[in-house]
Amino acid sequence: MTALNIKEPFPHDIMPLASHDEHARENITAAMKHHLSEHVYPYDELVYEKQAKQKFIQANGREPKDCGEVHHLMMEQPYTRMWSSMARTLQEMLWDNQGEIVERNKPRLTEAAKKLSAKPKGSLTLDPDCDMPRYVSAVDIHAMPGGYSTTRSETDLATPAVYDRGAYYYTRGMAGRWGQGGGLANVTAFKEFFPDLKPKRILDLGCAIGWTTLPIVDEWPEAEVHGIDVGESFMRYAHARAEALGKTVHYHQMSGEHLKFPDGYFDIVFTGGVFHETSKKAAPAIMKEIHRVLRKGGVSFNYDIPYGGDYNLHAQFMLNWDCYFNAEPFWREWTSWDRSEFMSWGGFDKDAVIDTWADRDHEGNFRFFEKPFDELHTSARGGIGRVQFFGAQK
Ligand SMILES: C[S@@+](CC[C@H](N)C(=O)[O-])C[C@H]1O[C@@H](n2cnc3c(N)ncnc32)[C@H](O)[C@@H]1O
Repeated sequence: MTALNIKEPFPHDIMPLASHDEHARENITAAMKHHLSEHVYPYDELVYEKQAKQKFIQANGREPKDCGEVHHLMMEQPYTRMWSSMARTLQEMLWDNQGEIVERNKPRLTEAAKKLSAKPKGSLTLDPDCDMPRYVSAVDIHAMPGGYSTTRSETDLATPAVYDRGAYYYTRGMAGRWGQGGGLANVTAFKEFFPDLKPKRILDLGCAIGWTTLPIVDEWPEAEVHGIDVGESFMRYAHARAEALGKTVHYHQMSGEHLKFPDGYFDIVFTGGVFHETSKKAAPAIMKEIHRVLRKGGVSFNYDIPYGGDYNLHAQFMLNWDCYFNAEPFWREWTSWDRSEFMSWGGFDKDAVIDTWADRDHEGNFRFFEKPFDELHTSARGGIGRVQFFGAQK
C-alpha cells in the first residue's frame, strides 16, 4: 500500500487531541483511502470500457445512455462492489475513531470553550427559533454521525469537534493543517477577479466550524466578518475556535434561506462547499438571499464540487458515488446544474457569472486552471481533490 504521511492538523485550545493509537488509526484509514484513490479507482474505467459496457451493448444493442444506467451496471461488477464497500467502510472507520477521540477530550473542550468565550474579540448569537432545515437534520451527511444538526446540551461541542479532525483526515489532509485550504482558495480566486474591491462587511454563509471564515479575516483584517450556520453546536465551536486562534468573527446561528441582515449589507458573501449539501429547493432560495444582502457592486463568490455534465458517463458515475453511498442525497443533482443558470435564479446576470477551477494538494495548496476540465481524475473521486469556483457581481 502507498505510504501517505499526513501531518497532524495544527492543534488549538479546543481541538480534540489524539492518543498514539488513535492517531495511528487516523493514518491507516487515510492511507487506505489514498490507496483506493490512486491505485484502485483508476482501473474501474477499464472494467467499464472492456467488460461492463461491452456486455451492456450485447444485451441492449446500444451504449448506456446516462450515468444512472452506468451506476446500475457498475454496481453489478465485483471490482466496483469491492472498492465501493471498502470506501464506505473506511468512511465509517474514520468517523468512529473520531467519536472515541472526542469522547475522551470532552471535559477539556467544554472547559476551554467556556474560558475562551469569557472575554471574546468576536461574538456568538444563538437563536433557539432558527429553523433547522430537514435536508440538514434528516441525514448524517457524508456518513458523519450526528450530521450538522445534533446538539445535546447548551455546552455540547461533540459533533463539530468530530468534524474538526475528521474532515481533515477525510480530505486526506487536503483541507490544510489549519483547515484553511478552501477559504484561502476562495479568497485567492476572488482576488484574481476583483483585485480592487476593498470589502467592509463580509459574510461566510454555511461556515460550519469556521475553516472558511478565518482566511477571510486574515486577508481583510479591517473588515467586519460574519459567519452563519444552522447548527447550534457548530456555531458554538466556531466561536471558541476563532477566539482560540485570536480572530475576530461574529458567528450567528441562522439559515441562509432566511438571512437576518438588511438589504445591501455586505460587500462579499462567500460560500464553501454549501450548495451540494442543500436541497433542490433551498439552494436557489439561498442564492436569492445572497443577492438581497449584497450591496450594488457586491460579489457572491463560491466554491463547491464540480459540475460534471461535461465528463464522460463513467466519470459521472464515479463523481456521483457519494450520492448513493456516502449520505450525500443532493450531490448528483448539484453536479448536473449549470452554475450560470443557478446564479441567475438568484437574480444575478447569467452572462456575468465567473467560472474557474482548481486542484488541491496534500498541503491544502490550490493550483488554478483557466479552463474547466473535460475529464474527471477518478483518483480524486468524491470531488476531494478538485473544486469549481463560481461567482458574480450584483
Ligand atoms: C460542507 S459544510 C462547509 C463548511 C465550511 N464552509 C467549510 O468549507 O469548512 C456545509 C455547511 O453548510 C451548512 N448549511 C446547510 N444548509 C444551510 C442553510 N440553509 N443555512 C446555513 N448553513 C447551511 C451546513 O450546516 C454545513 O455546516
